[in-house]
Amino acid sequence: MISRSTIDRIFESARVEEVIGEFVQLKKAGSNFKGLSPFTDEKSPSFMVSPVKQIWKDFSTGKGGNSVSFLMEHEHFSYPEALKWLAKKYNIEIEETEQTSEEKAQMNERESMFLVSNYAKEYFHNLMLNTNKGKAIGLSYFKERGFTDEIITKFDLGYCLDEWDNFTKTALAKGYDLKYLAATGLSIVKENRQFDRFKGRVMFPIHSMSGRILGFGGRILTANKKAAKYLNSPESDIYHKSKILYGIYQAKKEIAKQDNCYLVEGYTDVISFYQSGIENVVASSGTALTADQIRLVNRLTKNITVLFDGDAAGIRASIRGIDLILEQGMNVKVVQFPDGEDPDSFAKSHSDLELKEYLENSTTDFINFKVSLLLKDSNNDPIKKATVIRDIVTSISKIPNGIQREVYVQECSRIMDISERVLFSELAQILKKESFQKKKTQTNANTNYNPNIDPNEPPPEYFQEQEQAAMGLIKGGRVPSQKIDELSILEQEIIRILVLYGNEKVDFTEEIVEVDEEGKETISLRKFENTVSSEIYLHLHDDEIEFSNAVFQEIYVEMIHQLNQSEKLDMNDFTSHENSEITTIITSILMDKENPKMQLSNWESKNIEVKTAIDVLPKAVTDVIFNLRRILIGKKIEELMKEAIENQSKNIDLEMIKNYTSLKMRLFEKLNRVV
Ligand code: CTP
Ligand code: MN
Repeated sequence: MISRSTIDRIFESARVEEVIGEFVQLKKAGSNFKGLSPFTDEKSPSFMVSPVKQIWKDFSTGKGGNSVSFLMEHEHFSYPEALKWLAKKYNIEIEETEQTSEEKAQMNERESMFLVSNYAKEYFHNLMLNTNKGKAIGLSYFKERGFTDEIITKFDLGYCLDEWDNFTKTALAKGYDLKYLAATGLSIVKENRQFDRFKGRVMFPIHSMSGRILGFGGRILTANKKAAKYLNSPESDIYHKSKILYGIYQAKKEIAKQDNCYLVEGYTDVISFYQSGIENVVASSGTALTADQIRLVNRLTKNITVLFDGDAAGIRASIRGIDLILEQGMNVKVVQFPDGEDPDSFAKSHSDLELKEYLENSTTDFINFKVSLLLKDSNNDPIKKATVIRDIVTSISKIPNGIQREVYVQECSRIMDISERVLFSELAQILKKESFQKKKTQTNANTNYNPNIDPNEPPPEYFQEQEQAAMGLIKGGRVPSQKIDELSILEQEIIRILVLYGNEKVDFTEEIVEVDEEGKETISLRKFENTVSSEIYLHLHDDEIEFSNAVFQEIYVEMIHQLNQSEKLDMNDFTSHENSEITTIITSILMDKENPKMQLSNWESKNIEVKTAIDVLPKAVTDVIFNLRRILIGKKIEELMKEAIENQSKNIDLEMIKNYTSLKMRLFEKLNRVV
């Protein structure tokens, strides 16, 4: 863990305009900077950076935050990765906390493995570009395959000499420890001799999402039946083949931007696509896709397009893995290449435009693709067709979203020429089994053994429950749309007022009610000055009001804490908050005024805006608090009524209800009176 004081130092040093300036061209616009959104392809700039508040807001996507959240959004860094990037930029030494010596040792081991891998990458790359053998053998191989210098550098491609231990010897001479050369698999250590694992191969370094070198793939140059075409780094503390996708580092930005990821099989498929202008592409490196790999993509987009080579056997094998993608709630599309072509060869034999058009025109929905593929196999044999139906519906059952499942059922019913009812009942069966199995594993620990019940069979009421659920599906029964939460809106408004005007001093008006001897009420008004924040605090404190929304409550509590300590609200603590949800909420409020799409005319300049806002502040504050009270009282009345109905014999609560109701009436009166 990075220590709190290091994090504070990083936030103090980082200048959001400098950080963002490395990725986005910013122009001064008043007290802010303005630029084109790096998250969309917009033509007029709606991306704003405030150097005063140290925050940014992208009005075209609604994203916003501080420098750390920018790096997380834009570079897809994790929180610690973003902090480390900033620490490096601003020369801040990172202090780690709460690490046992064992953890530290392990960290150091991993760091050493990363260091040696990075060195190897540079060594192979420089050797290929700058030595005679490198150029004559490695570089000319890649050139023959049509790779440009630019792409060779982009992917850090390299070459390992066809000599026993040139790399290992050089690395040792440079001071790298043999232990880590062995641990990364770059060197093979036998008794007292060492060899280069990748001897005589061209090298494809494998980058992590944030660009560190995890391992390598090495391709043989000659057609040698005995040796494997590709040799990969062995599994290690830093390289887990099943958790990484080749090309993700180079592709991540474009995947997020295009909101789609092309998935291919091989290293060269990725590189050729990239060179042809399709940059949102990654490879599973010839193995079946894993859940971890899908999660990697899921961080960037919900859409994946799987590209199949033109050979039928391969397609049937890989189709099974796709259910895994559906399970993670992703939308899957597929493209099939013509017979005998893989993405690499297709990209080579076609122009960039032809490739683009082919992808656009041949993309089909996965379920549709699977249906037509399997139906072709079944040749209208009814038994085979039943198996196909089951297979397809199993795929559909993996989709977590019910509405989407329903759409697919309708679609399949159309292409397979089978009634929706049959498909829905098949689907219900599968869902039933699955959720029963889930329930069973959850409750297994405390179920009593009953010899008359097959433990694999769900109880009868279970079927009824599921049947009803499935029927709902057939009738198109949907979850009722969520009622708009009035309470939440008011709470948000209170936070907004506190953020924007909390420190303002304004005149509030208070009603003073005097009752004379005859019981006659006279109401007089008294004006007094107070800060907006303490006025809000006094009211909410008086009524012991807590926010129903947990994040708002957290923000509010921290604001009160600030007020107690310094009598002033300071938004810096919130725009660099460790809870990213809080950062986003506060940034949004602070930057709302800067929305270029909302600034209608020049004369609505900020001065006037703020002035009018302050004029109406007292009323805005009183209104929002009264409205909040009104709703809370309304809720209370509802609760009491319900209780009263449930326990009809005891009428104790009726008095309370009366009291609350008259309180509510008075509030309404006040709301209309106070100006
Ligand atoms: N692969 C591997 N080991 C092998 C063969 C293949 O790890 N012995 C992986 C590699 O990641 C390779 C992918 O599977 O990129 C796809 O294999 P293949 O289609 O045979 O290779 P291509 O990528 O087409 O490579 P090339 O075009 O250089 O022949
Ligand atoms: Mn190939």
